[in-house]
Amino acid sequence: MATQFKIDGLKAAIDGKEILKGLSLEIKGGEVHAIMGPNGTGKSTLASSLMGHPKYEVTGGEVTLNGEDVLEMAVDERARAGLFLAMQYPSEISGVTNSDFLRSAINARREEGKEISLIKFIRLMEGKMKELEMNPEFMHRYLNEGFSGGEKKRNEILQMMMLDPSIVILDEIDSGLDIDALKIVANGVNAMRSEDRGFLIITHYQRLLDYIKPDFVHVMMQGRIVKSGGPELAERLESEGYDWVKEELGIVDETVGQV
Ligand SMILES: Nc1ncnc2c1ncn2[C@@H]1O[C@H](COP(=O)(O)OP(=O)(O)OP(=O)(O)O)[C@@H](O)[C@H]1O
Ligand SMILES: [Mg+2]
Repeated sequence: MATQFKIDGLKAAIDGKEILKGLSLEIKGGEVHAIMGPNGTGKSTLASSLMGHPKYEVTGGEVTLNGEDVLEMAVDERARAGLFLAMQYPSEISGVTNSDFLRSAINARREEGKEISLIKFIRLMEGKMKELEMNPEFMHRYLNEGFSGGEKKRNEILQMMMLDPSIVILDEIDSGLDIDALKIVANGVNAMRSEDRGFLIITHYQRLLDYIKPDFVHVMMQGRIVKSGGPELAERLESEGYDWVKEELGIVDETVGQV
């Protein structure tokens, strides 16, 4: 079945404070959606809520992946179902090497007895690291520990490539990347574009979208999507900022507001 990811009226709260206020979005296989929006409007909260981060309490709405209820799934089940998130601030895990982590993640998605062999895994990882121009030593470093900002971002893309997810959420994957690394990461993403995979790319800058061409661009304010369009919307935001959107929609405070 073609990939279909549906978010309908999603509401989420942190410590009793509502951040997402009824967000709807549909992503089909083959599509790239970009979400832009001012700071503090709920973009990362959306990403974390979709992945089932325990801090975020979903208080309303529905999320389905190929008809299956995502909100009912535990975090690992969501990953197994094909959801992947590259976080804005990837966590460091001391004591677990990058390769151990990735091999466990791959095997968690496979049936018992069908685990990837060590040799196959190493070949796959070496190949992908080469594509991303990563130093092989990163295989044996502890996950993200002491990685530079850009190295962390590149490592998130390595995980995406190895895990072969059907819905990819990238939260500010471009932040902290130098110009060459941005191109390498974008190439990695573009190589993963396919009819059965959908992308949700959260970014502040049009520049990333020059390399990864979105089909749809959405503006997020006040915990929901307030405007959608094509790539031209991102270009206008880049040159004019968000004031015109706020004026058009009569929005005074674009953040998720106070309790
Ligand atoms: N764990 C948390 N505890 C308290 N407040 C939180 C938490 N997570 C998010 N918030 C609040 O929710 C609001 C939305 O945050 P979020 O990180 O989703 O914004 P964002 O749109 O991703 O912003 P940015 O563009 O700066 O990354 C902010 O006001 C933030 O302070
Ligand atoms: Mg954010």
